[in-house]
Amino acid sequence: MPLPLKGKVAFITGASRGIGQACAIALAQAGVHCILSARTQGGLMQTDDVIQSYGGNATLLPLDLSSYNPSQQIDLIGPSIASEFNRLDIFIHAAFQYVPLTPVTHITDSTWDKNIQANLSSSWRFIRTLSPLLYATVNANAVFFQPMASIQPFWSPVTSIQSALGAMLQSWQQEIMQLYSLQIHYLSLPPTNTLLRQSFFPAENKHKLNTPEQTAKEILAKIFP
Ligand SMILES: NC(=O)c1ccc[n+]([C@@H]2O[C@H](COP(=O)([O-])OP(=O)(O)OC[C@H]3O[C@@H](n4cnc5c(N)ncnc54)[C@H](OP(=O)(O)O)[C@@H]3O)[C@@H](O)[C@H]2O)c1
Repeated sequence: MPLPLKGKVAFITGASRGIGQACAIALAQAGVHCILSARTQGGLMQTDDVIQSYGGNATLLPLDLSSYNPSQQIDLIGPSIASEFNRLDIFIHAAFQYVPLTPVTHITDSTWDKNIQANLSSSWRFIRTLSPLLYATVNANAVFFQPMASIQPFWSPVTSIQSALGAMLQSWQQEIMQLYSLQIHYLSLPPTNTLLRQSFFPAENKHKLNTPEQTAKEILAKIFP
């Protein structure tokens, strides 16, 4: 089997299940060494098992993005990957912590803080710690996903993240334009049968949704056209 991406290194969050897991497996099948992150060690090991069954290998990095003070852990990731691999070709930020849908006036302190920490601040911290390595690696890609929401009642915890992340990524894109070969992607995704989707839309007909593998294929086709 040809390995078109052999020698490349990817860091994937949300790699314990769903779309992140499917992206990691697809990248590993193409020869990429994947650094896999999520909270659940068992899920990461499952992803690793599949990767190993294809003859690939991965590095596991259990991490809770909503924990009280994740800054130290996240801030160390860029330098750690630099010293271990000296390159980062692909960053896919697929982690997203489910947040209950609720009227703006009913969002609790704990829900607000965890949502911002896990689903927004983590992106900024990853950008800060990974950017030196992403800039130094020729034709690197940083991939973020638009959450699955349009502005409507009760969805403000999700739509707030979507708007803020989109604005931050646009600024970042403009700051680095013409300076580096890094491509920044903020992708909207087709409805995909995952735990997150089931949590937001429990009554939905799952058979009409993409599988995570189908969506991962579409994502990789956008990154490597
Ligand atoms: N599914 C869709 O239809 C759809 C549509 C549009 C966009 N998206 C986007 O696609 C991305 C992936 O979502 P998915 O549907 O694949 O969801 P998923 O199957 O529920 O996966 C979410 C991933 O995030 C990780 N995660 C959750 N909270 C975390 C935390 N606090 N710290 C670290 N990792 C955490 C989970 O692992 P652990 O629980 O092990 O930590 C899991 O690996 C998200 O950005 C989502 O907004 C999905």
